Amino acid sequence: MRKVILDCDPGHDDAFAIMLAAQNLDLLGVTTVGGNGYLENVTRNALVVLEKIGRTDVPVYPGHAGPSTTPLVIADNVHGKSGLDGPVVTPPIRKPETKHAVDFIVETVMSTEHVTLVATGPLTNIAAAINREPKIAEKADALYIMGGGAYAGNWTPAAEFNIYVDAEAAYKVFHSGIPIYMVGVNLTRQCPVTPEFIERIRSIGNTTGVFAAELLDFFSKGGDVHLHDPCAVAWIIEPDIIKEAFLHVDIELNGTLTRGMTVTDLRFLQTDKPEADIDLTSTYKWNDPPVGSPFRGKEPNVHVGMRLNYPRFCDLVVETLEKYK
Ligand code: RIB
Ligand code: CA
Repeated sequence: MRKVILDCDPGHDDAFAIMLAAQNLDLLGVTTVGGNGYLENVTRNALVVLEKIGRTDVPVYPGHAGPSTTPLVIADNVHGKSGLDGPVVTPPIRKPETKHAVDFIVETVMSTEHVTLVATGPLTNIAAAINREPKIAEKADALYIMGGGAYAGNWTPAAEFNIYVDAEAAYKVFHSGIPIYMVGVNLTRQCPVTPEFIERIRSIGNTTGVFAAELLDFFSKGGDVHLHDPCAVAWIIEPDIIKEAFLHVDIELNGTLTRGMTVTDLRFLQTDKPEADIDLTSTYKWNDPPVGSPFRGKEPNVHVGMRLNYPRFCDLVVETLEKYK
């Protein structure tokens, strides 16, 4: 089983990322970051989820409450005041670890072979860890993120929430050299929370299945919602579940309208081929822009998730939840 550290901001979809990782990967620890909710709430929620699934052996390390250069933006409109509204839960028995998330990430990656980092919230902790010890960018096997979008955002027309909340952190991470697998909203749009999916989960009939269905009952109230975060974990568990294109991606910091955008080089889409004939997952033949272009020489640097095997994803979620109590 691949060793992973999951940095998250639970968050209903983060909860599914935790449930997938804890059952199918060697989850060394969960670190928390301000994002969907305030740090105290997302940390409590991580403890609640791990307790619900009977995995109180997995430690939880609180990290940064928010970005260092901009005020924290939370998504309580989506996840509720607690960050995990919906199911009735009792306060967690466990306390979080006293060690800071960034210390845990740096110490673990530098002392353990083949650790994969997964981030399903703003990249504040990941950037801080790279700032603390730049060597983790080459020591870690890879960083899988739910964040960004190849074509558009969700929090703004250009920017996805996780990148928008801490664009400076994302810029640092995307320029660190760590191998990045990006699950953007272009991918997670293919992962709808449908009534059929919710009822399939509820009918599993165990405690975890009921809890998961109740999470989705609340999460789907907004309509047209997608299960973003677990797609990043599913990609590690089953590499073929997502087809990718290897593209150049950079982070916009200064655009009035585009701050937080994952600017993705999609020039290969500008072809006279009919849309249907464009294979988004072909090995993209990188064509260096003309001399004089500021993009000349900027080669592909990010594995961009382009196509999800949604039926397999749903089966993986159900198969995983069935293994819990
Ligand atoms: O834009 C979706 C992302 O923002 C997900 O990670 C969700 O949990 C929120 O953090
Ligand atoms: Ca999240």
